[in-house]
Amino acid sequence: MAEEIIIVQGNNTLSGEVAVSGAKNSALKLIAAAILGQGASSIHNVPLISDIEVMSEVLRRLGATVTRDGHTLTVDTSAVNNHETPYELVSKMRASISVLGPLVGRFGCARVAMPGGCQIGARKIDMHLVGLEALGVEFVIDHGFLEATTPNGLRGTHVVLDFPSVGATENLLMASVVADGRTIIENAACEPEIVDLVNMLVAMGAKVTGAGTSIIEVEGVSLDALHPCEHTTVGDRIEAGTFLAGGALTGGPVTVRGIDPSYLRVALMKLQAMGCEIECGKDWITVRRSGKLVPIDIQTLPHPGFPTDLQAQFMLLAACAEGMSVITENVFENRFMFASELMRMGADITIEDHHALVRGVERLQGADVSSTDLRAGAAIVLAGIVAEGETRVHTIGHIDRGYEDYVGKLVSLGADVVRTQINDTTTL
Ligand code: EPZ
Repeated sequence: MAEEIIIVQGNNTLSGEVAVSGAKNSALKLIAAAILGQGASSIHNVPLISDIEVMSEVLRRLGATVTRDGHTLTVDTSAVNNHETPYELVSKMRASISVLGPLVGRFGCARVAMPGGCQIGARKIDMHLVGLEALGVEFVIDHGFLEATTPNGLRGTHVVLDFPSVGATENLLMASVVADGRTIIENAACEPEIVDLVNMLVAMGAKVTGAGTSIIEVEGVSLDALHPCEHTTVGDRIEAGTFLAGGALTGGPVTVRGIDPSYLRVALMKLQAMGCEIECGKDWITVRRSGKLVPIDIQTLPHPGFPTDLQAQFMLLAACAEGMSVITENVFENRFMFASELMRMGADITIEDHHALVRGVERLQGADVSSTDLRAGAAIVLAGIVAEGETRVHTIGHIDRGYEDYVGKLVSLGADVVRTQINDTTTL
């Protein structure tokens, strides 16, 4: 059976300038929020990635029309008349659960397939459900589907999240904007993508304050007070961090454009602590390194802490540093699969519970490796760029979920990387 892989030639460096695309983890929710606009909203700077295709299909199944012109999506939800999101789409992309809040907000009901877990963890949605129930939503689990109803409508309330869950904060926001009265979301997620979603909701007529802090206040408005809008997605801080890690790894200089440096404060601080020089402008960041990579200790945390989505990329840096680093993954329960792929390239890593003890090695070796999740996939390609020899990266569909033209952008920075079809020689 034919398979598309990425082939990377090693002993190379990255230098130059790359423009980051719009943030996947914002655009997906902006599309869902368009349900509340009950008309045609235009969303700019939407990345060309497969997850966006899946979310567009989710909206089409609900009765919306979604058209793309370059990086602009027009999402017309005036004709949305179906409230069901099928398992086949939710199982492809668990972020489909982000339609739950806006469907309940607009129609008072929804039928969404329960998302399963994934490679990096159970990915539960209990906080989504507890928070929405506090707003007056009633759930019945019916053969793998979440059946949501609001027999007494949506009522504003004070919700305290156990954990600053990004998804739960977003679903609560998109339901509470049309609840009756005031809602306070305490221990809310503070990620820049939350701020981006709130900016779009406010542009649609919602009344929300405190986005970007752990206490968000929502003054409910009537559904007909909401209208379509035009919105531009913020730059993708994780894509930017991925290319900056590539620049740090090979020495650079690498400049990423289209990103607010304030989104990456802790990650930039860690790059400096590892021996890199960082320069920033209003919407660009440059990284360069002349000396050795210095070992580092990292704790992944909710924003503004170190982002879990950059953990694999920084584990790679640690694997090439001169000494021992400790990386602690606090957000997901199983996000160290990347380590086993990197060890196949000669990295020296010991996993103890949610700590990875990474002893730097002189040189990684090219090998056949797999992408275990989208961020690990992006990082393993970077590993191939500095490794000795050739690296062949399999299961690259993961990378296409979240990185627009990853190979093309790396080639523009000087990498010798190609996508190619291979025929699987093994017979089943
Ligand atoms: C979003 O996932 C991102 N995905 C993830 O990016 C990112 O890693 C994560 O936020 C943390 O920043 C999208 O935005 C599409 P959470 P989300 O709810 O919303 C647990 C990538 O690579 N939890 O903050 O699912 C959960 O299991 C992806 O782009 C519950 O237990 O993250 C996890 O361990 C990977 N119950 C932790 O909280 C809940 O009800 C953080 O989850 C909700 C979450």
